[in-house]
Amino acid sequence: MGLAALAWLLWLFYIYLVSEAVIERRYTLPSSLVHASKDAADIAQGKHWMTVTGCFGCHGDDLKGRSLRGNPDLPIHSGDLTALAATYTDGDFERAIRHGLTPDARPMWLMPSDTYAYMRDKDVEAIISYIRAQPADHASVKKPKFNWKARKAIAAGRLVPMTPKADEILSPADLGPRYDGGRYLASLSCAQCHRGDLTGSGYAPDLNVAASYSRSQFFRLLYRGQSLHGWLPTMSPLARARFRYFHDYEVNALYDYLVARKTLPAWTKEQRAEFNESAGQKPAPAPKK
Ligand code: HEC
Ligand code: HEC
Repeated sequence: MGLAALAWLLWLFYIYLVSEAVIERRYTLPSSLVHASKDAADIAQGKHWMTVTGCFGCHGDDLKGRSLRGNPDLPIHSGDLTALAATYTDGDFERAIRHGLTPDARPMWLMPSDTYAYMRDKDVEAIISYIRAQPADHASVKKPKFNWKARKAIAAGRLVPMTPKADEILSPADLGPRYDGGRYLASLSCAQCHRGDLTGSGYAPDLNVAASYSRSQFFRLLYRGQSLHGWLPTMSPLARARFRYFHDYEVNALYDYLVARKTLPAWTKEQRAEFNESAGQKPAPAPKK
């Protein structure tokens, strides 16, 4: 009995130490050259990006943050961006958005910074401009709390910081300058769920499925949430909250890119496994035919 209790204590101690090392790790803060502006056109553009890339979905339309329960291992508050504006420099915002790092060089956890890693400077600047244009708030900012469940998940490697490492970021296939616009939008707006390379993850399918839509059907999916398979539990509400704000030229660019992407030869199982291993990713399920 005494031995069992001792083993249990040692195990808890081990979990604590391993998780603490991950939580408390400090990263090198990259320097930043972005500058927010007070220009009305930049602020409006920032609002557009925050809509179509999902910031409002997680941080709330008022940017005051929300409790998110999507990850069972780590319920988390997304952070009050208007309160942060009082203390965060433009560089602090940029590092949070693109690098998943807090100003004290700690990693962030559920903020999808990996999909924003290559956001253009001027788009990051527009977003910070919008945040700074909102009424200031002096609420205290909630830090993530790690209970035993979260610590066990961290020690087991199931819960990893979002802080992206450049060599592990998956990007949608590059099909050349003709398709750059659509590829950029897909990486910012679709990769969060459909995986960095758009090959699908969980319930979200490989985006090759978009090529089975005609252009006007694709417009109906993004603007009204009407799919070829009726009402969809995730995409339909998302279309109404986010994607109906895409400009026509953005939907056209997305569609052109996704259709062109379909012409890429599909990866063999072996190629995928090899790639996943080299990118330090967990194996993805093989794409559905
Ligand atoms: C999937 C939900 C989600 C989306 C989408 C999202 N965030 Fe976050 N964000 C979070 C969570 C959760 C945190 C809390 C920190 C963490 O994850 O460790 C956070 C933290 C932040 C922080 C730092 C807060 C702090 O306490 O230091 C900033 C700044 C931020 N988000 C800005 C943005 C912007 C700008 C966008 C859109 C481009 C965005 N977020 C999109 C969930 C999200
Ligand atoms: C928040 C997660 C999320 C985001 C962001 C997202 N999707 Fe999806 N998508 C899903 C899920 C989950 C499904 C499976 C159907 C469902 O549950 O809604 C899906 C299904 C689809 C389908 C298949 C529809 C069908 O006929 O079955 C298409 C096409 C699609 N998404 C396109 C996109 C595009 C284009 C974007 C970016 C502009 C995007 N999705 C962004 C989660 C997402």
